[in-house]
Amino acid sequence: MTTLAFDVYGTLVDTQAMTKQLQTYLGEKAAAFATSWRAKQLEYTFRRTLMDAYQDFDVCTAQALQYCSVLYDLDLSEVQQQDLLDAYRQLPAYPETADVLSVLNQRAETACHAFSNGTRESVESVLRHNDLRTFFGEVISADEIGQFKPHRSVYRLFEERTATPAASCWLISANPFDVTGALAAGWQAVWLQRSATAVFDPWEYRPTAVVQTLREFSQLPAISAQG
Ligand code: LAC
Repeated sequence: MTTLAFDVYGTLVDTQAMTKQLQTYLGEKAAAFATSWRAKQLEYTFRRTLMDAYQDFDVCTAQALQYCSVLYDLDLSEVQQQDLLDAYRQLPAYPETADVLSVLNQRAETACHAFSNGTRESVESVLRHNDLRTFFGEVISADEIGQFKPHRSVYRLFEERTATPAASCWLISANPFDVTGALAAGWQAVWLQRSATAVFDPWEYRPTAVVQTLREFSQLPAISAQG
């Protein structure tokens, strides 16, 4: 049995798609705002982990939006902020996602789970919005233990919840910090390099494989030989 852990934001659903909603307010600066929002959201998760001052991913997302609004001199009403946060729960999936998950689900020896720093409610919501929920056995949220990936305890949570030894867990993620976190926990971890300009951290951890698309991931010999 191969147990696959799918990261969600940036891997299955496109955080940069918020550009569309932001265009109304920011015009040509919308894409840069969406990039800053995502970077600040992740920074808040890392800092909260270091400070041992946990607040869930929804809070990090909302506070990062507030920060970026000040940075870009954007005066959003509470309703407008809430509309943007609601849109975040409906981020679109990357085009090939459903097809690839459907193929993986047909393999008897492969188990697929969603594995995210997002709260269970938000992850369930974004998966259901994209008709992806049925492809996953479990939605495993770091929020269950009040920690964020790449803290080692979150990978241990996944191992416990799926009763899988570390060496048999496979992470697929577009986020290098998540890939290095999984490798450090003793997992196999595949980096989904969604953009040709994305850079992997030059640390002592190298991804088990690097792929450009989810389809390419599903065709890796170690993954496609199962079931
Ligand atoms: C996730 C974010 C961090 O865990 O990408 O889904």
